[in-house]
Amino acid sequence: MTVKNETPDLKSVKSKTTQDFAKYFQAPSLKDAKKRGKEEILVHYDFTIPEEMEGVGKGKHYLIRTYGCQMNEHDTETIAGILEHMGYTATEDERTADIILFNTCAIRENAEDKVFGELGHMKRVKRNNPNLILGVCGCMSQEEGVVNRILTSYQQVDLIFGTHNIHRLPVLLRDAMFSKEMVVEVWSKEGDIIENMPKVREGEIKAWVNIMYGCDKFCTYCIVPYTRGKERSRRPEDVIAEVRELARQGYKEIMLLGQNVNAYGKDFEDITYGFGDLLDDIRKIDIPRIRFTTSHPRDFDDHLIEVLAKGGNLVEQIHLPVQSGSSAVLKKMARKYTREHYLELVRKIKAAIPHAALTTDIIVGFPGETDEQFEETLSLVEEVGYDSAYTFIYSPREGTPAAGMEDNVPMDVKKKRLHRLMEVLNKISLEKNLQLTDQIVELLVEGESKTNPDVLSGRTRSGKLVHFTADKSLIGTFVDVRITEAKTFTLYGEIVTKVEA
Ligand code: SAH
Ligand code: SF4
Ligand code: F3S
Repeated sequence: MTVKNETPDLKSVKSKTTQDFAKYFQAPSLKDAKKRGKEEILVHYDFTIPEEMEGVGKGKHYLIRTYGCQMNEHDTETIAGILEHMGYTATEDERTADIILFNTCAIRENAEDKVFGELGHMKRVKRNNPNLILGVCGCMSQEEGVVNRILTSYQQVDLIFGTHNIHRLPVLLRDAMFSKEMVVEVWSKEGDIIENMPKVREGEIKAWVNIMYGCDKFCTYCIVPYTRGKERSRRPEDVIAEVRELARQGYKEIMLLGQNVNAYGKDFEDITYGFGDLLDDIRKIDIPRIRFTTSHPRDFDDHLIEVLAKGGNLVEQIHLPVQSGSSAVLKKMARKYTREHYLELVRKIKAAIPHAALTTDIIVGFPGETDEQFEETLSLVEEVGYDSAYTFIYSPREGTPAAGMEDNVPMDVKKKRLHRLMEVLNKISLEKNLQLTDQIVELLVEGESKTNPDVLSGRTRSGKLVHFTADKSLIGTFVDVRITEAKTFTLYGEIVTKVEA
């Protein structure tokens, strides 16, 4: 195998022959992924499928298994778009698939364990169908240790590519089809921004729109800055054009995506234009609902609060990960805010947007977290009164600073803390939901309930799930519902009148 370290550009890629590519091998390096350079990020608008790969998928099927966050789910929509442009059609049946891709997540160890388990199972699928191309992409591919493990122990894998070179899928597939060796192409350093890649969106009601890529925050526990590269914002005109087009196609809700949306625009050198400005422009587009995720508390500025307070299609739900209620732990996490700063931000948000539903992410059992520090998290949770939260036990990630910190908290203590935290959060969620009893809320009807096809499910502006009985023709429309029963995770209601979208 020849190791080439240079990043191939799109034009040279198109002119290369299959033979050149059969030799291509580029594995990730954590050391390089850590670097942040000053290079200008170019935006490419000329994405095309190489001629020789057009139509190769006719009559063939693909299956993508997706793990992790919405960013990854959205990447899957792009991967599916590229494959469908090559002629492939989707299947859910792994026995008839010609391509199976695992779009993976590296955030915690259990996410990775799941993928390795599934890859093991693929050995048999591949034995029954030797022509199957089995690929691994997403955040795990960006990790040195993972690629080495696949190279040594998962020979059934044909192709590994990363989060920065999705646009290269057609040529990489071609290589994988012709090469006897595993094709590995992972760029440690982020590439440019590639616009106009095709997408197959999941559903016709809600759509994801990336506003930026990467993360420069380097929280000490987190692998994302290594797997997703430096922060790069899409040009405002490209984001706005995409949202306008989705509105034209009839989508009802847009979720703007970024690992840290509040850093949007900080990398522009020619314009002063931040996330508040972007939202202020997008809210003028005729689309009923706009959400965004995730906002880092540190960059949540007053301008953004002012814009959000204008309401309209900017809905009252703010996901504001706190991670811990202890300033000492926050410092070790390098979150760059204190408990007091966070609580002050929450106060400002609540004053400006009275019905805002706040949600959060919390890590328990960070290395060295004391009982007192954990209690501070519980008291913060009570003080803020979150509508809901994602809670995690800290999981060491290879190469991150926290993985080298001494951890004297036994796992059973961490588990007990998680349990207690969930009890407190659930109690608050129930209280919040009970306050909605008898109130009339506006729902976007998303579809049949997962457990009962006779029941429909919709979401309030604040993101709460409500079940009610009504005709399926209402799916994709807005309805008013009176809340009749409130539980910790769901609300039940009955339809009042239909509100025109
Ligand atoms: N960019 C987002 C977070 C994306 S990861 C933000 O900062 O808000 C989603 C969540 O996973 C994080 O908020 C954190 O709570 C959790 N997480 C990240 N790394 C983790 C780790 N090593 N162990 C446990 N949880 C982790
Ligand atoms: Fe990870 Fe922190 Fe970046 Fe979020 S802001 S992705 S937790 S490094
Ligand atoms: Fe996972 Fe990567 Fe998202 S690590 S949470 S898929 S950015």
